[in-house]
Amino acid sequence: MLAVDRLAPETRQGSPLEPLTRDGLVFGCDYNPEQWDRAVWDEDMRLMRQAGVSLVAVNIFGWSWINPAPGVWSFDELDEVMDLAHAHGIRVNLGTATASPAPWVTTRHPEILPVAEDGTRRFPGGRQAYCPSSPVFRAYAAEVSRRVVERYADHPALAMWHVSNELGCHNSLCYCDASAAAFRGWLEARYGSIAALNTAWGTSFWSQRYGAWDEILPPMTALSLRNPAQLLDFQRFSSDQQLELYRAEAEAIRRHSTAPVTTNFMVTAHIRTLDYWSWAGEMDVIANDHYLDRRLADPTAELSFAADLTRGLAGGTPWLLMETSTGAVNWQPHNLAKGEGELLRNVVSHVARGADGICFFQWRASAQGAEKFHSALLPHAGTDTAQWRTVLEVGETLRRLQPVAGSQVHSDAALLFDWESWWSLENEGRPSEDVRYLDQVHAAHAALTGSGVSVDVVSAHDELTGYRLVVVPALHLVRDEDAARIARFVEDGGTAVITFASGIVDEDDRVRLGGYPGAFRDLLGIVSEEFAPLGPGQTVTLDDGGTASVWAERLRVTDAEVDARFLDGPAAGLPARTRRAVGEGSAWYLATLPSAADYRALLSRAAQDAGIPTTPVPLGVDVIRRVSADRAFLFVINHTTDTVEIAARGRDAISGEAIAGPVRVAGGAVRIIEEAS
Ligand code: GAL
Repeated sequence: MLAVDRLAPETRQGSPLEPLTRDGLVFGCDYNPEQWDRAVWDEDMRLMRQAGVSLVAVNIFGWSWINPAPGVWSFDELDEVMDLAHAHGIRVNLGTATASPAPWVTTRHPEILPVAEDGTRRFPGGRQAYCPSSPVFRAYAAEVSRRVVERYADHPALAMWHVSNELGCHNSLCYCDASAAAFRGWLEARYGSIAALNTAWGTSFWSQRYGAWDEILPPMTALSLRNPAQLLDFQRFSSDQQLELYRAEAEAIRRHSTAPVTTNFMVTAHIRTLDYWSWAGEMDVIANDHYLDRRLADPTAELSFAADLTRGLAGGTPWLLMETSTGAVNWQPHNLAKGEGELLRNVVSHVARGADGICFFQWRASAQGAEKFHSALLPHAGTDTAQWRTVLEVGETLRRLQPVAGSQVHSDAALLFDWESWWSLENEGRPSEDVRYLDQVHAAHAALTGSGVSVDVVSAHDELTGYRLVVVPALHLVRDEDAARIARFVEDGGTAVITFASGIVDEDDRVRLGGYPGAFRDLLGIVSEEFAPLGPGQTVTLDDGGTASVWAERLRVTDAEVDARFLDGPAAGLPARTRRAVGEGSAWYLATLPSAADYRALLSRAAQDAGIPTTPVPLGVDVIRRVSADRAFLFVINHTTDTVEIAARGRDAISGEAIAGPVRVAGGAVRIIEEAS
């Protein structure tokens, strides 16, 4: 039996989701009526009501529906969909229709088609076939979204605006002439002079010194490794270009409407091109799309991380899961169906980590088109199916969880996450391709949550006051002020755990000289003289009995204790883990990747060091608490096949059953307990 300490309640006010959660957490879906005959729409409405669907995302890919030819506008069907939704008490998350240009646009203006890094053009026939920097595309998109906004700003069904769709999903990196021109403009604004750019990019190397702006290209496919600083700036620029697309539409919308504006983020393991820390402040509601990625070793752990990161982007306030799937997707090599109870576990995992609503792609499984084998709320086989019955159960669960709306997760631990580090660490010419940023982040996150420590995912630029433990995995690129903030956090009594591959380069991707990890050398009291990465599959042993993989390095301590040493491998005899006491605080360094069990043990220790109460949870069981001013909800998600017991007292939030002692959670099940105060 486990005891889980109750955390201090906090209040949250003014969530733009609040009006949508008065009768239950949001239960929504993409709704694409344009794919179906009119006769189907009435049945859609009836079944949505039966399931309790409260929010539909409409007109996401509507461009050729509402604007089928130049100058031709055809809103009759969309009008009817809006009215139907309203008549059935369903709110609309209205798309601006700019996600994919209609075929006439690209026929008329082939110059807006995106160009890949090898200079080849990408054609229409799929989606998102436009260059994000194209002024021509931008002008057409502005016109389409303006028409939509003007027409529906006052429609009673309107709940929020959905700008475009997954901006940058396919077209974030475009290398066409328009992109090149925009890139030069972006560089000029950043550096002011060619001399400053040459310095920042280190262009003396390989005779790359530029004499004029027009000599600069996007980093197209080259014969050899490319300039890493140029790659990094192109990644920054590309994220900014997509954000500009959002911003242009959002600003225009806000001139006509007070409804919240958002777009759907892709906080997932396979999209790394958008620095959402710089986007988050421009969203009225943080919305994420998340699909289980079966290509990963532990898709569920990745879900937990993505949900924690999404909550971080929302600054701890309620967020919306804008898309997920009831079952299989259709874009992975093996599109696995969800197992018994898995959908509910996924849904409750997102809610436990701060989502106030769950929406699905999509309402009715398509009969045609590229996604005809993607699951939906209403499957091809109809309503006499286990899938539909599960959907009804999900709807009912979200309805009963209404009291959870607005509550918050409270964490004493933070994990630093940084897209720029992801980019710089994984750009070309690195020490080991086995050092993948997300692997390192996921390993640290899983070790924390596996120790029963609730964790906020925060940006490298965030204030850390209020946390007791900060974990810094592979923070490759660090600005001086961010390194200084981490040092101050430790000096003020905090505990930091910093891993290898952190603090290596500055914001220009320039190595910090004098020994690794340059930005954290003094704080950690170590100097690492040489990287000594491990070979593929190679493991090493440590003198505390632990095992590790991926990385080693040759370091010496200058002012720290050695907590463990390498027994073998390329750094045999040298420190593998160090700890430096700084007043009340301490700074740990990990020079290798411990096994999952060793990592959990280490972060448990660090958490105890930091004064965080840790309660070991059985492996595969998530225990998370959301609290509001006067209520607390304990979420237990049992991913294992065994029954577990968790200490709790209160009332089952779904069944209403009183709980006086430990709550039993069957294998594969979830329990949500409103705790007695
Ligand atoms: C998202 C997208 C949806 C749909 C879904 C399928 O990327 O926004 O339109 O394609 O994936 O999983």
